[in-house]
Amino acid sequence: MDRLKHKRAVITGAARGIGEGIARVFIDEGADVIVTDVDTQLGAALAKDIGATFVKLDVRLESDWDALAMSHPQIDILVNNAGVTGFEDGPGPHDPEHASLADWRAVHAVNTDGTFLGCRYAIRAMRKAASGAIINISSRSGLVGIPGAAAYAASKAAIRNHSKTVALYCAQQGLDIRCNSVHPAAILTPMWEPMLGDSATRDATMAALVKDTPMQRFGTVDEVAALCVLLASDEARYITGAEMTIDGGLLAGSAASPG
Ligand SMILES: NC(=O)c1ccc[n+]([C@@H]2O[C@H](COP(=O)([O-])OP(=O)(O)OC[C@H]3O[C@@H](n4cnc5c(N)ncnc54)[C@H](O)[C@@H]3O)[C@@H](O)[C@H]2O)c1
Repeated sequence: MDRLKHKRAVITGAARGIGEGIARVFIDEGADVIVTDVDTQLGAALAKDIGATFVKLDVRLESDWDALAMSHPQIDILVNNAGVTGFEDGPGPHDPEHASLADWRAVHAVNTDGTFLGCRYAIRAMRKAASGAIINISSRSGLVGIPGAAAYAASKAAIRNHSKTVALYCAQQGLDIRCNSVHPAAILTPMWEPMLGDSATRDATMAALVKDTPMQRFGTVDEVAALCVLLASDEARYITGAEMTIDGGLLAGSAASPG
């Protein structure tokens, strides 16, 4: 399968989870893949395993993006996938009444600043060829409010809107650079492990977590990666500024829908 042949792709936060899945499938589709992450050990091991290049990139740092622009001034695809929920370092409050400003800013530094810097790098790196595809991994949390994760939800909503701004800007500039957002929900990745617990209760916990999902299961990284292949490929050449949900039907209805 060569749907991404002759295309160079940069993927952020690609050492594990959804980013890893995208990197693996992009390689299978013939792309030249640059795996980037702050986790150098996992990222370098993955790159070696799949025949990609690893570059350490902290998406929060302008200097890291500048260094990438020097080493890789021309690319065809960027997936802004790196993201944090805010719960990585503990359960601390993230509701709009009790969240600290420091915690709010820490989430936005990765999700919002990282996506802004990534899009800016990509537009510049795609300008010469005047074409390319930017895929921003948002979330269903960017489309609905999340009482217990205020910064995460606000940052993912910002990613959704910035994707549309980038799409319109590029079209206005006469560039064939497309930008779309992807909105997953409940995709089984290491991000969920702290919530799933040990094997005795794992199945029950997983079932409870997806009880409101119409398809009654978690999604897989391969399912998200398949959508990203489509958006990155020339098959999607008329799709820009779009938001793609991949959530087992979760956002097709609402808790208030009549039965
Ligand atoms: N898994 C889900 O159910 C789900 C649902 C909706 C949206 N998402 C989004 O998908 C993306 C990937 O999620 P995942 O479940 O694979 O998460 P994950 O935690 O398994 O992987 C995230 C990766 O990002 C990297 N990362 C963290 N901070 C970084 C930084 N500052 N710079 C560069 N890399 C950094 C981590 O090292 C890790 O490799 C995130 O943006 C997340 O918000 C996930």
